[in-house]
Amino acid sequence: MVPVVRASRDFRRACQEARVDGPLALVPTMGFLHDGHGSLIRAGRNLAPTVAVTIFVNPTQFAPNEDLSRYPRDLEGDLRRCEEAGASFVFAPGSPSEIYAPGFQTFVEPGPLAAPLCGGRRPGHFRGVCTVVAKLFALSRADVALFGEKDYQQFLIIRRMAADLDLGTEVIGRPIVREPDGLARSSRNAYLSPEERPRATALWKSILSVRERFRSGERDPAALEALARDTLARAGLRVDYAELRDPNELQPVASPDPSTRLFLAAFLGKTRLIDNAALGE
Ligand code: PAF
Repeated sequence: MVPVVRASRDFRRACQEARVDGPLALVPTMGFLHDGHGSLIRAGRNLAPTVAVTIFVNPTQFAPNEDLSRYPRDLEGDLRRCEEAGASFVFAPGSPSEIYAPGFQTFVEPGPLAAPLCGGRRPGHFRGVCTVVAKLFALSRADVALFGEKDYQQFLIIRRMAADLDLGTEVIGRPIVREPDGLARSSRNAYLSPEERPRATALWKSILSVRERFRSGERDPAALEALARDTLARAGLRVDYAELRDPNELQPVASPDPSTRLFLAAFLGKTRLIDNAALGE
């Protein structure tokens, strides 16, 4: 079975030793791993002889009303998946104090990239994400780190943070892995009931219908966003946002082009699902 370290100092030492053999790739996760994480680990293997995976449900990125206490966990299953995908070792902190020692008080505050979309709906979320990822980069001094583009805004914010703070880790985004019916793989899909699961494809259907309308020549962002919202609402989802944004700075666009991304967030029952895609993919 893949080796597991539970203490920060052991993780630091394992990474230090691994870097003697060449570049180190890091795959930070919150566990309950799925094929999306598997593809990140495999991509890491193509870039570096050592791939370290971290599994930590980071409390500072959850608001008090969010799902921290019920976030799905399955360390044994995760270790199996890490092994299958070719991870070299796993850091699964034995307790949150391995990351947030008593007296911890320093946070990383992201800039304007964190203002729209999920940043606007989940105040403080990206501050928590940046802080834990900065710590993981500092502990590991990884050469590259891989993140899934399902959390596209998170990927941009982390890449910006690594550049702004000269963290020395190259941040790489990898394509979304989808279920056969188009639903983006996510640990939170485990919350969906058997009745809700088929309706969750509304996000993918929304992306497909907006792409189709864009291909037919529609260039009015408001019309395309309205179509996205309608597709979600017709399937009974409560829309959180459906917005077209440029893929680099996440600014609204006056005239969408093929690189413009559609960003979606919607509630199905209590489960909040997100997805995104370029119009021209
Ligand atoms: O995407 C996630 O799973 C988390 O936000 C991350 C990057 C591991 C930080 O806790």
